[in-house]
Amino acid sequence: MTDTSSLFSPFSLGEGIELDNRFVLSPMVTNSSSQEGYVSQEDLAYARRRAASAPLQITGAAYVNPYGQLFEFGFSVAKDEDIAGLSQLAKAMKAEGARAILQLTHAGRFASHTLAREGFVYGPSPMRLQSPFPHDVKELTLEQIKSLVDDYRQATKRAILAGFDGVEVSSAQRLLIQTFFSTFSNQRTDVYGAQDFASRARLTLEILEAVHGVIAREATDPFLLGFRATPEETRGNQIGYSIEEFLQLMDEAVAKVPLAYLAIASWGHDVFRNRVRSKGPYQGLLVNDVLYQCLGGRLPIMATGGINSPEKAVEALAHADLVGASTPFIVDPEFVHKIKAGRADEIHLKIKAVDLPSLAIPNASFKDIVPLMDYGESLPADSRSLFRGLAVNYREEKS
Ligand SMILES: Cc1cc2nc3c(=O)[nH]c(=O)nc-3n(C[C@H](O)[C@H](O)[C@H](O)COP(=O)(O)O)c2cc1C
Repeated sequence: MTDTSSLFSPFSLGEGIELDNRFVLSPMVTNSSSQEGYVSQEDLAYARRRAASAPLQITGAAYVNPYGQLFEFGFSVAKDEDIAGLSQLAKAMKAEGARAILQLTHAGRFASHTLAREGFVYGPSPMRLQSPFPHDVKELTLEQIKSLVDDYRQATKRAILAGFDGVEVSSAQRLLIQTFFSTFSNQRTDVYGAQDFASRARLTLEILEAVHGVIAREATDPFLLGFRATPEETRGNQIGYSIEEFLQLMDEAVAKVPLAYLAIASWGHDVFRNRVRSKGPYQGLLVNDVLYQCLGGRLPIMATGGINSPEKAVEALAHADLVGASTPFIVDPEFVHKIKAGRADEIHLKIKAVDLPSLAIPNASFKDIVPLMDYGESLPADSRSLFRGLAVNYREEKS
């Protein structure tokens, strides 16, 4: 039997925030909020049912402005009216003593719900895209970038008022911040342009500094600033940014703001086992290990993606301080407790329709976003089919 004791050693995030084990409930939108972006009763029941799942919990993506909305029924942190629902969400997540972090996002040109609503999306540079219908990606003006940074500032204030223990700025692949750092997406020539490293990195650093500024001025209790990002971007032999450039970005970020952690994220199978693709001294090495060796000790590193068994959790923790799981907690909120009690054989990643009420899974959850579960395949095909069925029910309910 795997020795899982490393997973249950306490970990300090600083500022008096002590976690009693290494598991994190990673961000996942259930797509069950209201169309206006308000947290629903179903969202609250879902969060409450998972309050004891892990000592650190991160909400799904909250959009900082309406042009960054990826999911039709995701929730918003773009307006003051969102605070009441968000504060109930924070309370539900913290009901059993966990620390709750609000994830702040702008999905840029991948804001598929914005696209459906507005017929266009924003990005660093203009593009003409054909899918799912021909549309423009409009270039953000300097004025709009300034206002975007302010949106992150306002969102952070709202997170503090709502009673969260921190915010996570996500620059994972495809989101707006990441596309500014990417030479694939950024063709600008101004101060945010692709002509040199400092210009490409500017938006990331400005947002982190703006968020930190609000925390320093307005948070009375310890309040964490986490960062979620994809450490390299490649397409075949081409490089959007290399892991060395990402490390340089992290060096600069850590020098400017106290980051509570770096969550390593990407789309795909067993992401925690990804190897470096970009040419250079790290090519072929384990991405997580490179980051852990280069950044470890300066900020906690969180592995994510595909960690759905005690064996994989132990393997991931060899190159990280924390391990994040997303989809396993949908179907088994007691995932960690079973590992701790040596009852891993009782982990249920396969669920049936009759299990849904006891798991507080919203009737219409994951509407249209089940394909996201197919990228990682952390849940068995049967469970994913069940969720696909729920999405179909929802469409029938509405028509
Ligand atoms: C339905 C669904 C919704 C997701 N929503 C988010 C999100 O809001 N923010 C985010 O950073 N990642 C999101 N993700 C990615 C997950 O956090 C995670 O990286 C991915 O599911 C792989 O981890 P797992 O194997 O533990 O499930 C989502 C994934 C799925 C399947």
